[in-house]
Amino acid sequence: MRKPTPTLAVLISGRGSNLQALIEHAQRTAAYRIAVVISNRPNAGGLDLARDAGIPVEVVDHTTFTDRAAFDAALAERLDGYATDWVVLAGFMRVLTEGFVERYSGRLVNIHPSLLPAFPGLKTHEQALAAGVRVHGATVHLVTPALDHGPIVDQAVVQVLDGDTPQTLAERVLALEHRLFPRAIEALCAGRVAHAGSLAMVGAASQPLIMNIPLVDEHYGQKA
Ligand code: GRF
Repeated sequence: MRKPTPTLAVLISGRGSNLQALIEHAQRTAAYRIAVVISNRPNAGGLDLARDAGIPVEVVDHTTFTDRAAFDAALAERLDGYATDWVVLAGFMRVLTEGFVERYSGRLVNIHPSLLPAFPGLKTHEQALAAGVRVHGATVHLVTPALDHGPIVDQAVVQVLDGDTPQTLAERVLALEHRLFPRAIEALCAGRVAHAGSLAMVGAASQPLIMNIPLVDEHYGQKA
């Protein structure tokens, strides 16, 4: 018997460009089905992207709750109505309580715009420029109670260029996120990612996405 298509709930707060990348990948490959998109902001642009794709949408407006635990409980109740295999944070800008994270442990995934464990939190592109790193990127990871920690599923790397601003860097990283996220979710859905403790192990076939960085070695010349 054919296995049922894995299902996702995608949580957003804003424009939803990563959500759009996930939608398009599902349309192309049927690697997973997005069963619902939930936003904590009623006016998130991503809600329209979901509606246009015929995906059910829900809003759990965090401003209507007195505390984090009450919001998370309402969110969990809404999520559980869809009983999805995976809960995917795609630009969901709320810190989740430990209870919520534990409830979805092992099937809660996030994308973060830095090469974790460097630069957790906000303003990651500013942090990268301030630190003077030569490479920067994005990480898909399983969510654990510590913010922006958790087993790394996949990463993508961009070169930091002379004259980069947080804006130019953000644009290049985001373009790469749109390739990274769907393939990481597909790998998870296909059961190609094992995780033990703080480490996730992705099949050897999966190479990190490395953009625009020709491999140059002074002894061996240009490799690619
Ligand atoms: C992305 O940079 C993602 O890594 C971060 O929030 C941003 C969301 O952008 N967590 P979008 O809403 O997917 O366009």
